[in-house]
Formats: sequence, C-alpha cells, structure tokens
Amino acid sequence: MTKSYEVIDHEYDVVVVGAGGAGLRATLGAAEAGLKTACVTKVFPTRSHTVAAQGGISASLGNMGEDDWRWHMYDTVKGSDWLGDQDSIEYLCKNAPKAVYELEHWGVPFSRTEDGKIYQRAFGGMTKNFGEGPVQRTCAAADRTGHAILHTLYGQSVKEKAEFFIEYFALDLIMDKGECRGLMAWKLDDGTIHRFNAKMVILATGGYGRAFFSCTSAHTCTGDGNAMVLRAGLPLQDMEFVQFHPTGIYGAGCLITEGARGEGGYLTNSEGERFMERYAPSAKDLASRDVVSRAMTIEIREGRGVGPNKDHIHLNLNHIPSETLAERLPGISETAKVFSGVDVTKGPIPVLPTVHYNMGGIPTNYHGEVLTKDGENTDKVVPGLMAIGEAGCVSVHGANRLGSNSLIDLVVFGRAAGLRCKELVDPSTSNPAFGEDDGTKALDRLDGFRNAKGGTSTAELRLNMQRVMQSNCAVFRTGDVLEEGTELIREVQKGGEDIAVTDRSMVWNTDLVETLEYDNLIAQAMVTMDSAANRQESRGAHAREDYPDRDDENWMKHTIAWYEGGDTNIDYRPVHTYTMSNDIGYIEPKKRVY
Ligand code: FUM
Repeated sequence: MTKSYEVIDHEYDVVVVGAGGAGLRATLGAAEAGLKTACVTKVFPTRSHTVAAQGGISASLGNMGEDDWRWHMYDTVKGSDWLGDQDSIEYLCKNAPKAVYELEHWGVPFSRTEDGKIYQRAFGGMTKNFGEGPVQRTCAAADRTGHAILHTLYGQSVKEKAEFFIEYFALDLIMDKGECRGLMAWKLDDGTIHRFNAKMVILATGGYGRAFFSCTSAHTCTGDGNAMVLRAGLPLQDMEFVQFHPTGIYGAGCLITEGARGEGGYLTNSEGERFMERYAPSAKDLASRDVVSRAMTIEIREGRGVGPNKDHIHLNLNHIPSETLAERLPGISETAKVFSGVDVTKGPIPVLPTVHYNMGGIPTNYHGEVLTKDGENTDKVVPGLMAIGEAGCVSVHGANRLGSNSLIDLVVFGRAAGLRCKELVDPSTSNPAFGEDDGTKALDRLDGFRNAKGGTSTAELRLNMQRVMQSNCAVFRTGDVLEEGTELIREVQKGGEDIAVTDRSMVWNTDLVETLEYDNLIAQAMVTMDSAANRQESRGAHAREDYPDRDDENWMKHTIAWYEGGDTNIDYRPVHTYTMSNDIGYIEPKKRVY
C-alpha cells in the first residue's frame, strides 16, 4: 500500500456507488433484503443529478386513456432504432407500473387527475396501439419529478438503515482475477482514504455529459463509474450514441422539459413557422428527440434560426393558460426567467439542442450484472459487479432514449439490482480478506495526480476536450469530421502528460477532484469519438451525413470498446433480438416513420 496514506477498512454485503434515482433504489432494495448495505456518493444524495429530472417517468398506467405495456415496449424498441435489447425492454415496460406504484406508496407527491389518479402527460414517441397516435404515459410531479423521487427514495433508504458515505469520491474498483471485490474512495472533508470490501459493488454513477461544452448535466456528471470500468480492463458499450435534448436554454444549456411540448408547447423558426409539421407530420413537436434535434439543426443551418445570429430556435408556451403553466410547469417557468430573462406567459424561450443523455455505458443484463466479452461468450457476467441507471447500458434505450424512459429505467433496474443481490449475496458469510496491496493502484493514480507538476491546468485541458467533443461529435456527423475529432481528442489526451495540480492537500482539494474527474472524462471522450468514427451508418442519435441510412445488415450490433494507454479497441456484441417471454414476441425492424 502506498505508505503515505492511512487506509480505513470497511466490510459490507453490498456497496452502491452513487445516490441518484438508480443508486438509491438499489440501496433501498438491498437494505430491505436484509443485506448490510453502504451507499458511497460524491454529493449529498438529494443533490444527485436525478434532482434535475423534470418532465416525468413513463409507465403504462392508463390513467388518461387506455394503455398497455406492450405499446410502451413497441415505442421503446422503435425509439431505440432497433439497437435496444428486447428482453431488457420487455422487463422495463412490464415492471414499470409496479415500480411507479411503489414510489407512490413510499410518498412521491405525484400531480393528480380530477379523480385522484396519478397525472400523466404526453411525451415524444409515446403512442397507443403500436404507433397509432399519442398517449399520455408520463407520470409527473409537476415539472420536478426527479426531485420528488430522489427525496422519497433517500428517506426510505435511511428508514431501512442503509449506511451513507457522503462526499466520498470513488477512486477505483478493486479487482481480482476478473472479479470485483470492492472499492477505494477518498473522503473529501477530512482527506482520509477508505477501502470497501464488498460481495457486490453496484455502480450507479450516472452519465458523462460534462465531456461536452454545452449540456444539461450537472457539473458532477463525469462518468466516474464508466471510467473505473475502463481502468479495470472492461469494455463500455454503444458510446457513440449521445442524446441531444432539443430544448436546452440557448447559452445556458439548462433543461426545458419535453413536458413543455407535452402540455402543448411548440417550436418555431425565424419565419414563425411550426417547422416540425414538415419533418414529422404525425408526431410534430413530440417526435423523438433525435428527430426534433436534427430538424432544429437543419433549420438553423439553412438560415431560419432566430436571434441576431440566427443560431437558435423559439419554444412557445405563451398560448398555454397561465394557470396551467403555474400548475404543471412552475420549475421551467422560473428557469426561463432566470436564465433567459423570458416570462413564459408572454414570450418564447430561446432554445438549442443540448447534450442531455448517454445511451452508452457499462454493458449489463436486465438483472444489472455487468457483462464482458470472453472469446465467443458475448454475455460473460463479471462476478461482484453491477451497473444501473445512466452509467449502465442494459440497453433499453439502444441508439436513442425516449423522454421519461430514463427515470423509469433508474427505478426498474435499481429495483432489479436489489432483487438480484437478494438472490446472489449471502449475508451470513464474511467476505474474503483483502491482501495488503489491494487498492494500491488506485492510490498510485491519486498520488500521481496530486503531485503533478506540469504546466497545463486541468481547466484548460477540460475546455479543450469539451470544445472538440461539441464540434466534432455533434448532432450531425461525417467521416471527415469524426476522423479529425479522433486526432484532436488524442492531442488533448496527450496534453494530460503536462497536467498541473497546484493544491497538494487532501482536504476539500477541488483542484485534485476536478483533475480525477477530467481523467475520467477524457477516457470516455476518446472511446466516444472512436466508436462514432467507427460506426458507418445512421441510427438513432448517431446521424452520419455520409451514411444517411440505418444499415441493419451490417450494423445492428452493439459496439463494445476497451481503452488502454490512450488506445481504443473496438469489438461487438449482438443485439438481443429475443424477448423474456412470448407475451409480445420479437419486434421486427421497420423503417421509422414520424
Ligand atoms: O424533458 C425532460 O423532462 C427530460 C426527461 C428525460 O430526459 O427523460
């Protein structure tokens, strides 16, 4: 063990890393199952990024008209552009109503219909009767649904006596012969180092939106779990699929929920035209996000953007009665005022497609167990390791996620992970002891950055990375731009050899935290750019102008990518074209019509 660090040891049945919706739901499930459970989180649980989720959580409750989980499944497969794993999608949609009712019974203050049922709103791509017309499937607590869920799950987890390690920065997994045995973490407020020995580690560390310049993600969204997986010699999956949300506030990037369009809002260009009617005559402003983001980008490119530089689009809500805005969309009404100076009852909000979600992440099955490829076995389970939420790629979202399918993914697969722990983890046995050197690699890495004496600040490297990702891995992509991106991002990565850390302390050293986060981000940026350059087709959020069509014959497969020493190795896993049961059966690929 690196001598200069005193290490405090802990032993748990289950250690969950991250306290967003997925992490808390798994923590609660494992604790409820009688397992000794710890949740390690770099921010206070109710400050996790789920708090920013606005519009709602999808489930076919049928409170606003007929609905069926099979229709939800069809929409999700179609939304994924046939890259989603259909067994996982069946699991998601079938279990969604149960997961939402659990939340309701635990105390989530959902908005209500006149007759007291959970209120549901329209969201993009959610339809009835296998694509016939829109359905209101997204359960909402006004426009603060994530906030409500997070507070409820935290309260319930505390009640179940889960133990929280708050403001602990996860450094690395402890692996032994391909198995995960635990985790190293740094306690930020006193500088101590902690070594967690666990029968199961569950990564719920969220996405890596901060690899891009403009995103709706919190500053904490640096994909720390994804990067730990790469350093453990395991692959990430489908990293080329990055979702742009159509309505980030121009300039600030803050999210304006899709629920705003679900309540009747619409987009206009400089001619005042409701242009989505041209691009998606049936779904219009509620087409899926990839479609709306591309349409907005084309409008701007063709000179029909709004504003002095014609570089953004208007979102109109001022025709919606002000009482409805106050009741259903109070949060974004305030956000629009603060970040763009707009009174939504009077004028349009300036918006622009903004990075919002990573469909890619750590490959898993629908129990949340992490998978890797070993020879011919493309679904080899990594013992002792799970991943859920945006960090995971259980692949329910495939190439493009439908709005409100994220919150339901968090709770359905958080719940599934808890159930799997109950099956796999025996609380009556003690954990195999660590050797003296377990965790040393993580401390060597920490020590290396802590004492870095280069000449380039982390902030400068991070900005360079964000600029390259924003311009070379954007809504529309071409081979040339992506190839240039692979070179530019390597230059940024190489620049890391000259990284400067000026604060050498261990207590609240934000310079060091940001450096570790940057190191996590740049690995994911490299894998993202390389995976995007590699995929020669257009599918979901990956829109190649030089390969405009989806190519099911050659590319209906998951990318998996390993990263070592600045190099990316790419291979593939088959898409699961089978379902869990025959309740609906496999949904055949179709050309998408909007
Ligand atoms: O627009 C929104 O409220 C975001 C929801 C989501 O990404 O699921």
